[in-house]
Amino acid sequence: MTTVLITRRIPATAMEKIAAHCKARGWELRQWDSDEVMPRDALLDQVRGVDGLYCLITDRVDEALLTAAGSQLRVVSTMSVGYDHIDVAACAARGIAVGNTPDVLTGTTADLTIALLLATARRLPEAIDAVKQGAWPAWRPEWMTGVDLFERTVGIVGLGRIGAAVAKRLTGFDCRLLYTGPRPKPETAAPLGASYVSMDELLAESDFVSIHCPLSQATKHLFDAGAFRKMKPTAALINTSRGGVVDQEALYAALARGEIWAAGLDVTTPEPLPPDHPLLTLPNCVVTPHIGSASVATRRKMALMAADNLLAGVAGEPLPHAVI
Ligand code: NDP
Ligand code: DGY
Repeated sequence: MTTVLITRRIPATAMEKIAAHCKARGWELRQWDSDEVMPRDALLDQVRGVDGLYCLITDRVDEALLTAAGSQLRVVSTMSVGYDHIDVAACAARGIAVGNTPDVLTGTTADLTIALLLATARRLPEAIDAVKQGAWPAWRPEWMTGVDLFERTVGIVGLGRIGAAVAKRLTGFDCRLLYTGPRPKPETAAPLGASYVSMDELLAESDFVSIHCPLSQATKHLFDAGAFRKMKPTAALINTSRGGVVDQEALYAALARGEIWAAGLDVTTPEPLPPDHPLLTLPNCVVTPHIGSASVATRRKMALMAADNLLAGVAGEPLPHAVI
């Protein structure tokens, strides 16, 4: 019997769509009906014999999982644009389609990036905490002073969908925009007034460096001790891509020693970041819990897009949004 597995509780509209589709065709629908991550052993057990897998960024789709699933698996559909948790080459070798959710989360993630830029620049968590702790003194000329974002130089690492949406928002702040990546993107960059530079130039020139590349073998620990030494001591690092792009121990050292001024992170290694993690002891490190795409509307769109990919893949049709 044709079977699909959903590894988590997902927004109702997407769940209802998949359930109705399965019912109409007599397909078996399995779901880990919980807000918690499906334990690995349960996943390896439940994936056995499925034709379609609907997963999240917390599910590792590797050789072991594909082997456990079996040769009838036709599609892996992730409710995310990032797919570093999926061994795409292994899927391709087995003829398994992989789908993701680009574009619908671009604006929401770009908005959060701007929020993190401002929260870091203007020390918002520290300031809010001072109010709550009764540590708000009478107005003082130099209390809780941060740095400006407007008219500063911002370096975008990866001028893709989200990087470009962040750059577009920053034009409203009159920022000077630099970007780097595997190749120049003149059609995207020209309307933004963004200049293509080398990574070293971007690190040396930027007041804020914002990371928007995917996590891959090429980008793992792209930001290491050497990279932080090349940044200005007054600069801030913002990361809303993946925690693995940053060597966190090196980041901690750079922040603690004042090699860079501050960091704003929506993504870390691991996630969740333990509350006793050294980074959380630093006042100049702002951490949000991977909420880049977390608006109600966007999460619904992502869930539906992933549902459409799943259902098309199981039916042997081209995926509306295919990674491969
Ligand atoms: P895109 O593929 O549109 O953009 C990624 C960009 O990174 C591309 O321009 C790519 O260049 C560039 N790039 C690739 N390799 C490198 C490199 N070595 N150095 C610098 N740039 C590089 O993806 P999106 O903008 O849609 O998403 C980007 C990432 O953001 C996702 O992969 C995901 O990890 C993360 N994300 C996080 C969210 C959150 O909740 N915090 C929400 C959504 C996404 P080229 O095209 O030339 O290869
Ligand atoms: C993604 O889509 O890759 C994010 O990390 C979650 O929205």
